[in-house]
Amino acid sequence: MSQAAKVLTLDGPGGAGKGTISRLVAERLGWHLLDSGALYRLTALAARRHGVALDDEPALERLAATLDVEFLAEADATRILLEGDDVSREIRTEQAGDAASRVASLNGVRQALLQRQRDFRTPPGLVADGRDMGTVVFPDAELKVFLTASAEERARRRYLQLQEAGVDASLSSLLKEIQARDARDMQRSVAPLKPADDAIELDTTSLSIPEVVERLTEWLAQRGLAPET
Ligand code: DC
Repeated sequence: MSQAAKVLTLDGPGGAGKGTISRLVAERLGWHLLDSGALYRLTALAARRHGVALDDEPALERLAATLDVEFLAEADATRILLEGDDVSREIRTEQAGDAASRVASLNGVRQALLQRQRDFRTPPGLVADGRDMGTVVFPDAELKVFLTASAEERARRRYLQLQEAGVDASLSSLLKEIQARDARDMQRSVAPLKPADDAIELDTTSLSIPEVVERLTEWLAQRGLAPET
């Protein structure tokens, strides 16, 4: 039964390292991975493709409910198809993130994506990455972690990522975008970004990725969810 599968939820603001860390922890445990932000990014992209305005809630809700997506797990990444097209890169732009944050503030869209997210919970377990994994989607998760980092550090990490990908960016405009998106995600009335009451908060500002993975693995082991390392 799918309800038997264990869940680790990783919530927090954009740029706190959740994506990379979720993937590494899922690989180490041999668990499935849910990148819930990708579903909001895909809904926003589908809207653009179908000429749906980002404030047309009923139309966006229909799009979200019928989203034709596939997540193909590959060696060191997941390939994401929308209506058969590989959009793995297209959904990662700042513009796609901004559009995602807008559609994510609509209750109808969130409701339409809820069951699709819960369906990822299959044995042996699931690492769920998002904003409301511990509060709304998997309130009974075995371990809930809320990852943070200062906005300046998150902007710096994003800047380095973009530089590596050969994309021009300005640190100060990235910081402004991050702050605007944080504000929108935290202030929305439905499923706002906040730690679950029973979540452990981890500030990653001065931690490396392996250090964070190590900390999570320890917490999982303490709960009997992962082998001792
Ligand atoms: O994690 P991400 O940057 O891919 O998420 C893109 C947007 O989607 C982000 O601005 C907030 C929203 N989101 C959400 O509201 N709930 C989630 N569970 C995941 C993402």
